[in-house]
Amino acid sequence: MKDFNKKIIFIVGGSSGIGLSTAKLLAKKGAHIIIFARDKNRLKIAITEIKDQRLSDSQLFGFMSLDVSVRKKVETIMKKAVSDFGTPDMLINCAGRSYPRHFEDITFDQFDETMKINLYGIWNTISVLLPYMKQKGGHISNVSSIAGFIGVFGFTDYSASKFAIIGFSEALKSELKKYNITVSVLCPPDTNTPAFEVENRTKPEETKAISASAKLMQPDDVAAAFVHGVMKGKFIIIPGVDGKFTYVMKRCFPKIVEFVMDMIIKKVQQKDKEEGSRT
Ligand SMILES: NC(=O)c1ccc[n+]([C@@H]2O[C@H](COP(=O)([O-])OP(=O)(O)OC[C@H]3O[C@@H](n4cnc5c(N)ncnc54)[C@H](OP(=O)(O)O)[C@@H]3O)[C@@H](O)[C@H]2O)c1
Repeated sequence: MKDFNKKIIFIVGGSSGIGLSTAKLLAKKGAHIIIFARDKNRLKIAITEIKDQRLSDSQLFGFMSLDVSVRKKVETIMKKAVSDFGTPDMLINCAGRSYPRHFEDITFDQFDETMKINLYGIWNTISVLLPYMKQKGGHISNVSSIAGFIGVFGFTDYSASKFAIIGFSEALKSELKKYNITVSVLCPPDTNTPAFEVENRTKPEETKAISASAKLMQPDDVAAAFVHGVMKGKFIIIPGVDGKFTYVMKRCFPKIVEFVMDMIIKKVQQKDKEEGSRT
């Protein structure tokens, strides 16, 4: 997609963080924006902020409350959204969350919820909207993560969901060419959003130390890189220099990446041990 003017764009997870920044940027480019998330109050506030960025008064703005993990609800709400606003030219699947913990502290319920929101949520929205979108073509973007191509300490459930999103998107990209629908995957690095604050509450010290080795990005910068990547026709979009460097290193020199991460982890664990033996 090169031009967003007058395009109908559905953004799932558009009420906060990266999704909200992307919605504002696309509103500036003249798109009709419909956002989806669970919390109605946050949706109402977000759509006002998005509308403030509009290019013209003819743009449409709307929001609908839904939980992406509940398939029946996604079906009802997305069908209503299509009948109210029209078939989307672009679908952005940005809903997601993470609770980093040691594997042994992750319950089955957490693993199940992570998969249902981060992965099944994407399956749910695309499977409901594809019958409409294939009539006119368009673009689908799914949000993965740096943890979608590198398994990071503390993210066993999250990494599983985000790796799956990349594989799913690559297969989908191949299948949807015949409908003139392109597919991309956004892999943001650590980004300063409400979700990042939440994940810091449960993050193991080892994970914090690994995160500290890369720069924290701002959601507006991630959104700018994302939209630029879509316009350039990229499949994997990685905002920021650190993320791109990690991607290349992981592909070309996986042993070095593992060695560096192991060193960081060992250092933290050694420090913990020493502090433990002093008390
Ligand atoms: N921030 C980072 O460091 C980072 C790094 C890499 C990847 N990512 C990915 O980027 C995406 C956006 O993250 P963010 O940091 O911008 O998070 P955020 O600020 O918390 O925004 C998440 C959005 O998703 C919605 N959402 C969450 N669960 C949902 C559900 N079950 N059904 C429908 N909507 C739901 C939230 O609204 P409600 O809670 O009201 O539903 C909100 O609009 C996620 O997929 C995340 O995994 C983030």
